Amino acid sequence: MRAKLLRDRAVRVLDTNWTGASTVPSRTLYPHQWSWDSAFIAIGLRHVSPPRAQQELETLLSAQWGDGRVPHIVFNPAVEPAAYFPSPDFWRSSTAGLAAGAPSTVQTSGIVQPPVHALAAWLVHRADPELSRSRGFLPRLFPKLAAWHDYLLRRRDLHGAGLVPVVHPWEQGMDNSPCWDAPLSRVTPAPPGTFRRADLAHSAADDRPTDTDYGRYVRLAADYRDGAYADGPGEFAVEDPSFNALLAASEHALAQIAAETGVAGAAWHTRAERLTAALVRRLFDPAAGMFFCRDLRDGALVPEFGVSGLIPLILPTLPREVAAALVRTAHGPHFGLGGAVRLVPSHDLRGAAFDPRRYWRGPAWFNTNWLVERGLRQHGEHARAARLRAALLDTAGATDFAEYVDPYTGAGYGARGFGWTAALTLDLLSGARHEDAPEAVPQPPDVSSSASSESPAQS
Ligand code: SER
Repeated sequence: MRAKLLRDRAVRVLDTNWTGASTVPSRTLYPHQWSWDSAFIAIGLRHVSPPRAQQELETLLSAQWGDGRVPHIVFNPAVEPAAYFPSPDFWRSSTAGLAAGAPSTVQTSGIVQPPVHALAAWLVHRADPELSRSRGFLPRLFPKLAAWHDYLLRRRDLHGAGLVPVVHPWEQGMDNSPCWDAPLSRVTPAPPGTFRRADLAHSAADDRPTDTDYGRYVRLAADYRDGAYADGPGEFAVEDPSFNALLAASEHALAQIAAETGVAGAAWHTRAERLTAALVRRLFDPAAGMFFCRDLRDGALVPEFGVSGLIPLILPTLPREVAAALVRTAHGPHFGLGGAVRLVPSHDLRGAAFDPRRYWRGPAWFNTNWLVERGLRQHGEHARAARLRAALLDTAGATDFAEYVDPYTGAGYGARGFGWTAALTLDLLSGARHEDAPEAVPQPPDVSSSASSESPAQS
């Protein structure tokens, strides 16, 4: 009964946030469509309305740029510009993004977010394969998803190291993580009077990034825009474990999508394995038992324990000793799972920068915890996964589906009625979710070769 009530409440959040073609993360703080939010939202919506879950992803991908990038925001023209900053007149996608193939019919941002979409598309398909086939869902999405991954691997991997760097903290999604402090410190903030934040009208200043950090975000985005969104060496370029692990998981999903649409999928599995090998080679620190970010400006690892470094646990063929180290780290003093905290914090409990309520500097988020829960199941840690799942459901219900929570107390911060919190609650509640447990994938033919950005379609 409690589960039914929680499900009904979560469904109401998604209904309230539905615009008719997609779902906003929050009616107040984020009134447009966000890329990785939509992917997580589709994963939950599939249990309520597979057609709506399909539409969520299709709406997002209809704003894809000609070069393959999927923008991190698709703006709703019905929302007044002052409701969110940076608004369309900041990004100027249809003019500044012309050379990169930005669509003319819809306004978008010009940066990206983590590529969770192929994984989401596959899970949405699995929720109702017959409906999906009758609507030609995967055949329509497959070329778009393949172009999206090709954009990342071909245009972003400028150093040929086998991983995709992010060029803005918003691209990685954990905007204000202390992992960005060192690489961001080189960026001169845009002067305070040159932009007006809209987030502080809806959220407490203590829960959000500082004005100085915001000025740096604005500067990086403006510089990228002023360079016509061309990818080249910029002031900020960081290889991040979570972004690349999500890409690898989505490459595995793309292999499954390819096979479903009648195309041999092995090449995408191979590419996923190369990404996995590059992640371990470039970002795993065996002594710390953790994945770290690598700052491409100075080539050094950033030795901060951010939750991003636990996310590679979702990868099916992570070497056994690496997966075991991540499970230990998640349950050790830096993250406190199974002990001091209810949910995995976004940052090191022992770190100097830890703050239990400020945006991505300590609070627990539902999407990252959902990924850790999935990773624990992936590597056979079912009892630990079950405990985390129970804590997630309790906390989501008790906070009215908060955007993020204090990892110790579970007190809610940021927006309420938050889209992915409600959606992932629905996924965790669903009895059917184990059907889509990540599948065994073929062993890589050669994981030691350096990663390639060759398109499987052409190999
Ligand atoms: N998450 C960012 C914000 O706070 C941008 O995507 O607006």
